Amino acid sequence: MSRKLFVTTALPYANAPFHVGHMMEYIQADIWVRFQRMCGHEVLFVCADDAHGAPIMIAAENAGKTPQAFVAEIASGRKEYLDGFHISFDNWHSTDGPENHALAQDIYRHLLKEELIAVKSVEQFFDPVKSMFLPDRYIKGECPVCGAKDQYGDSCEVCGSVYAPTDLKNPYSTLTGAAPVMKSSEHYFFQLSSQRCLDFLKHWTSEPGRLQPEVLNKISEWLKVDEQGHGGLADWDISRDAPYFGIEIPDAPGKYFYVWLDAPVGYLASLKNYFDKGGAKAKGELQSFDEFMADPAVEQIHFIGKDITYFHTLFWPAMLHFSGRKTPDRVFVHGFITTSAGEKMSKSRGTGISPLRYLDIGMNPEWLRYYIAAKLNSHVEDIEFNPEDFMARVNSDLIGKYVNIASRAANFINKRFAGVLRFASDTAPLVDGARATVCSVRESYEAREFGKALRDIMAAADRINVEFDAAQPWILAKDDSRREELQDICSRALQGFKLLSVLLAPVLPALASRVARDFFGLEREFAWSDAEVLPIRVAPYRHLMHRVEEKQLDALFAPPAATGAEPPPAGIIALPLPGGEAIAPTIAIDDFAKLDLRIAKILACEKVEGSTKLLRLTLDVGEPAPRTVFSGIQSAYTPEQLVGKLTVMVANLAPRKMKFGLSEGMVLAASHADAKHYPGIFVLEPHSGAVPGLRVR
Ligand code: MSP
Ligand code: ZN
Repeated sequence: MSRKLFVTTALPYANAPFHVGHMMEYIQADIWVRFQRMCGHEVLFVCADDAHGAPIMIAAENAGKTPQAFVAEIASGRKEYLDGFHISFDNWHSTDGPENHALAQDIYRHLLKEELIAVKSVEQFFDPVKSMFLPDRYIKGECPVCGAKDQYGDSCEVCGSVYAPTDLKNPYSTLTGAAPVMKSSEHYFFQLSSQRCLDFLKHWTSEPGRLQPEVLNKISEWLKVDEQGHGGLADWDISRDAPYFGIEIPDAPGKYFYVWLDAPVGYLASLKNYFDKGGAKAKGELQSFDEFMADPAVEQIHFIGKDITYFHTLFWPAMLHFSGRKTPDRVFVHGFITTSAGEKMSKSRGTGISPLRYLDIGMNPEWLRYYIAAKLNSHVEDIEFNPEDFMARVNSDLIGKYVNIASRAANFINKRFAGVLRFASDTAPLVDGARATVCSVRESYEAREFGKALRDIMAAADRINVEFDAAQPWILAKDDSRREELQDICSRALQGFKLLSVLLAPVLPALASRVARDFFGLEREFAWSDAEVLPIRVAPYRHLMHRVEEKQLDALFAPPAATGAEPPPAGIIALPLPGGEAIAPTIAIDDFAKLDLRIAKILACEKVEGSTKLLRLTLDVGEPAPRTVFSGIQSAYTPEQLVGKLTVMVANLAPRKMKFGLSEGMVLAASHADAKHYPGIFVLEPHSGAVPGLRVR
């Protein structure tokens, strides 16, 4: 029976181009979708830009654009990536489209009617210069425990203490530098803590087949309420005060939906947009959007990364259920793609992959699809991009095992038999064997066990190659009396090649299309059922795929100067902002002159007893007596690595009393704003020749 599938991938924030993590998600979903389509199922596969929220509003402002223009510019770059990697979305839309405004407001009205919305007063930091409430990420201040400066509102990177933003001493807004004031305002909450929600979610999440077992485990922890009534879900704050780039909350002037309220609604909005444009009809779907979404036969499936599980398995189904809508049938959660951990890669080749550079230097997108597929399974596991492994897999599997079959067998068939295949012996075992492979591969694709599917396909390729080689066609070719044998073995090999091509088509759609049309003379794309149909003739073999070359990988990872191309992103995950944060507001030269930076020599250095973060440095700044400075760099340096070295210190910083003693300045070091995901602290060191006491200006 034909299935009706509504499939989505997470909506990327519209503040940066795609990185390879996005491409991995799209490739995973696209393979599954293409497989379903090949099996004759109806699939509507959509995505959209996630346009709203404070970070995008602020990034747009910094870029001197309206948020709409800012988002549109990012959106205009999407096609190049999606087409480039053969991602077959039916529609791409935006959460700022009119459909999303209407749908989000409609869902909210239902939740209101269900009495699941509460209004509570929330006290929060407010930036008086910008006249806006500050999300936690835009507040810094001194750690309430150790006094370290410039700490974020949730935890201190120096002493490791965890606290609330309101605990910070001398807090300041990272947007304007102004001291924020506490201000209260009314916030709207979705009452997820209600018994009704809890009951629904317990039931919904545990429905067999809905979630991966490890995901369900995690959720059960989140939902657990102990005997004292602790744990479980808190009510969810779904409103933000103006100024905000988002969707207005009905009958609540100056209030907007928090971006995560309207973002998943964007799935429905993109689908509706597709229906309204006539796209679904053109594909043979006769229902309207509303009919389609009300059809119990429709399976709604979301592909997402592990970091957004909470939103998709708790908030989103609850929003849908209590607004009387269909809930997701499945949520497929995947892990992250990371760089190769090896030092080798980072030293010789840098650390990042830019999907566009990959395409620009002429690397085949299907290599990446194949490599990613080979590493994927149905579990929430991270995968690693390792360049050596990439080259080895593509070259040995795709070229060595798969493509070679066609080139070798087709040459005989075309030179000796005018392209005509003939099977001299009983073909029943051949077809049976193919069917067995088809069945197991089909199950693997369905279950998103892509790695297993490809292993089975390559095992079949091995068998085909072994059989072909064992028959020694090059010897048969020398003996005219064995013509039939030669034609038979080549025909079998090409039948095998066809089988493999059909099975690989979800992963290698462009290649499979050429094989179907140009080589086997089909006037359409392969369908799943083609795997078992014996081919009758083939066209002369034309080159199908190149090998990956070492120099391509070098170019992919080369620093920009070497290629003159666009700089690759730092890290495999392209960063929306340099170093993870926007450049601070402009200052005048006088502001800079207030800083007295000096070259300092590290005379001594030791770990601070009782702290896992701090090193105590004794610094010569050219003064009569050395200074003592505490620095939160213990995770990155051993004392031995620093003693004797020169560095740069802030010499006119007010001394600060810390738990472990007085700190008389600060050593300069670079680090990423998101230290959790991008660890690394790099102490500054002057070029040789500098001496203690020189001023940095
Ligand atoms: N805008 C939200 C999603 C809203 S969905 C209603 C968001 N955007 S995102 O751009 O940060 O991430 C989009 C998707 O990419 C998420 O599923 C995320 O998990 C995935 N990935 C981001 N980095 C990734 C890797 N390094 N590897 C694999 N997937 C990754 O979250
Ligand atoms: Zn601290």
